[in-house]
Formats: sequence, C-alpha cells, structure tokens
Amino acid sequence: MNDDPNRPPSPPATRPLTATEIEALAVRVAEALEGAPLGPALHVLATRVPQLLHDGHVVRAIGPGVRTARAGAAAAPGERSDGSAGATDAVPFDPDAYGPWEAPVYSADTRHIRWLHEVLTAGRFRRVLEIGCFEGRSTTALLDAGRAGRVDEVHLCEPNPRAGLQRVLTRFEPGVRVTLHCEPSEAVLGRDGRWDLVYVDGDHTVATVRAETALLLRAGVPAVFAHDTSAHGRHAHCEGPQFLKAAFQAAGYWTLEDSLFRPGEQTDRGMFFATSRVDLYEIALRAYRRHCTAPV
Ligand SMILES: C[S@@+](CC[C@H](N)C(=O)[O-])C[C@H]1O[C@@H](n2cnc3c(N)ncnc32)[C@H](O)[C@@H]1O
Repeated sequence: MNDDPNRPPSPPATRPLTATEIEALAVRVAEALEGAPLGPALHVLATRVPQLLHDGHVVRAIGPGVRTARAGAAAAPGERSDGSAGATDAVPFDPDAYGPWEAPVYSADTRHIRWLHEVLTAGRFRRVLEIGCFEGRSTTALLDAGRAGRVDEVHLCEPNPRAGLQRVLTRFEPGVRVTLHCEPSEAVLGRDGRWDLVYVDGDHTVATVRAETALLLRAGVPAVFAHDTSAHGRHAHCEGPQFLKAAFQAAGYWTLEDSLFRPGEQTDRGMFFATSRVDLYEIALRAYRRHCTAPV
C-alpha cells in the first residue's frame, strides 16, 4: 500500500513480466472475459492480483509491464525532453470554455479531463479514440490536443450524438482531423484496433465493457483511460468499468487510478489509466501528480 500519492509505487515483489508474458496474459484475460459471469471472473482476477481490492490512490499491476525504460532516450517529435506535456498545459486546460453544457453532471470531472488532456499533449499518442462523448465536454481534451498538433487523428464513437457534441465539433473545425463513428463501441473496436490511446466512457454495463476490454486487450492498445472505474454501487448499470480495471491489472499493465472523494467534485467515480509501456506510464504519472494531487 502506498499512502503517499506523490511517491512512485513500490517495486513489485514479483519479477517483472516480459513483453511476451504480458501479451500471453492479456490474451488469456481477454478470453476469460468472454461469456464469464461477473462474480467468478472478478474473483479470478482478484486472486491473481492481490492489490486489486485495495482502495489505492495509486495502484499498479503485478509486473512493470515492459522493460523499455527510456533513460537517455531522445524525445519524440513535438515532445519535451522530460516527456511532459507541451506548452498548452502551462495554463490548465478548461473544458468549460466550450460550454455551456446541458448536463455536466454526466461528464468527467475537470481535473480528470485535464489529466487526459495533458497526457494527450505529450505528443506520444497520434491516433486516439473516445468511446462515449455525450455533450462533448471531455471530447474537448482530444480536440484541443489535435488542434495543438499533438494528436494526428481524433476518432469519436458516439451512437447518439447530441447537439452539444456537434457544437463542439464545429468550434474545432477545420483545424482537427476528426472522425465521428455513430455506432456502438464494439463495432468500432471490432474492425479497428490500431489506437495509440482509447478513452472508454460509453455504456457502463458489464456486457458492453467486458466486450470493449476484450477487444482492447486483444488488439494490444498500449494506453487506455476509463471513467467510472470506482462508481459501481453508486449508480445503476455502472458495474462494467470495475471489470475493465481488474482485467488490465491482471494483464500486467501499469495502472493508475484517481478515485478520491473530494467535496464538490465527483472524482470518487474513478478515472483509471493503464499502459503496457513504462515510458507512457511515466508521462501519465507526472500528469496525474499535477492534476490529481492538488486542488482543482
Ligand atoms: C457518461 S456519457 C459520456 C460522458 C463524456 N465522456 C464526458 O465526460 O463528458 C456516456 C455516453 O456513451 C454513449 N454510449 C452509450 N452506449 C454506447 C456504446 N455502446 N458505444 C459507445 N458509446 C455509447 C451514450 O450515448 C453517452 O453519450
């Protein structure tokens, strides 16, 4: 248990998994997800990963994923040498600059959207997908990263696009390469797995999130954000995201979650990040520290 969110997680007791082992584990987890009843499947994942049940501020998987620490590596094009976000986050990103919103209560918290935005602006995720846009409040993070040239392609999966989303898209046109997929996530992920980062915040039922998780793991998507990963029991039909969290932890991904209760915010719903690459984990951890350990 790591009580200090500013301190990196302790080294795992087990030896690091190799990339091949992670891949094999991810496939097995993806297979186990298909058709399995929620209770027993979660039990299996929990027994594999003892840390799973701890209500951690920072959580991590059994192994550190990949051994590709980039000590001394050159920054990617458009990235600062410390791997952090670019100039766009010198002033914290403000999704509400693109409002007003009809129902912001259904949207992710501002600090979580800022966390997502800063990770995207690191310039390491060229092709990104958001599943579940609602009014487009969180979508602004992807679009702004695209407008800043940090992301090349923004794909949005929203079966029921609302007027707010259309308005946001219009605000960002024509500077961003955007594709809106008006269909369920399973259709999009089923035909295309070549994503650098996917943000999952669509239908929260177990059946849908389990299918999304299996497809993401099988495709080897290197970075995933997911919302509401600690919201089970808080809302009806919100049991699915905890399953995604458990599956990525069991598959050996590096993971982070902010699920702190903060008066006036809904951050206890949980924003989760998982990656199979330690260099991406370090970027996400830096942004997490900036946005999830300080007042908004
Ligand atoms: C919680 S809202 C998204 C909130 C948004 N990400 C934000 O933070 O502002 C969930 C959205 O998922 C969409 N949705 C529902 N089922 C879906 C599915 N199978 N695939 C993709 N999106 C879905 C809904 O239409 C709704 O707009």
